[in-house]
Amino acid sequence: MLKPVGLINGHYECRSLDETLPIFTDLLALEVMERKEKEAIVKHPNTEWRLIVHEGGPNAANKPHSNHYGFRVGTSKEIPKAYEYLSDHKAQYKLKSVTKPHEAHFAYSVYFKEPGGNDLEIEYYNPAAIKQGRTIAAPHWKEPLTEEQFPGRGYIPQAMTHGTLNCDDKPTNDRFLEEVLGFKMVGGGRTSTYIRHPDTPWYIVVLPTTRREYLSPANRFTLKVASPEEVEDAHQGFSKNGKQIGIHELWDMEEENGRAFFIFSDISKNWWEVTS
Ligand SMILES: [Fe+2]
Repeated sequence: MLKPVGLINGHYECRSLDETLPIFTDLLALEVMERKEKEAIVKHPNTEWRLIVHEGGPNAANKPHSNHYGFRVGTSKEIPKAYEYLSDHKAQYKLKSVTKPHEAHFAYSVYFKEPGGNDLEIEYYNPAAIKQGRTIAAPHWKEPLTEEQFPGRGYIPQAMTHGTLNCDDKPTNDRFLEEVLGFKMVGGGRTSTYIRHPDTPWYIVVLPTTRREYLSPANRFTLKVASPEEVEDAHQGFSKNGKQIGIHELWDMEEENGRAFFIFSDISKNWWEVTS
């Protein structure tokens, strides 16, 4: 089993960085940490989880709705404001659609489609849900961003809270996530699973579905382990026992600026990276 010390990155494929980066900075309060020709790293000031954005070109596929990332605001009244702002700026940012505010259990959200082929979510999550054992309602920020830091929109994304994946069979996938990847289940029920690393609040929602649209490796999550030796050990373990434990595809070990890593797809054909 992997012993991850963190869920550190998401990898996200878009079509054009010039079109998609303004979505992150202007609509979701992220900052561009690094920009190369075909790749950029973005991050919310309140969330250590980084998104590595890959430019896939005009033919990059549309990703399923259930591969969205979610950003949380502090109050429910910001959701209709976000809807209004996104609708008013739909043409400017080439948004394909903006859904009307949608209420479900403790969440209140708007979803929109960015021109790079991805759905994104702005949500409010009622903190009272924590009393009912919903760990994901726990605070995702210490110092909220202020109106001065993100002025004029009527809403302030305060953190990047979650990513989303599909799976085929929930019990099989849950077992894989716990026993092979070393994740902690932090909620969910018959139709969803929530996983996260115990040290950090961000989480991944996994939803079983019968009609899968498989993602490419440019859409993956990165797990950090304690040392380069552990990366090597994990790779050796997966090479030896991968078939039995549910590794679908395993790529070779790679090295980049002294960092060892490898990429693999799991029992539900979702992609991951292990690094140190
Ligand atoms: Fe969501």
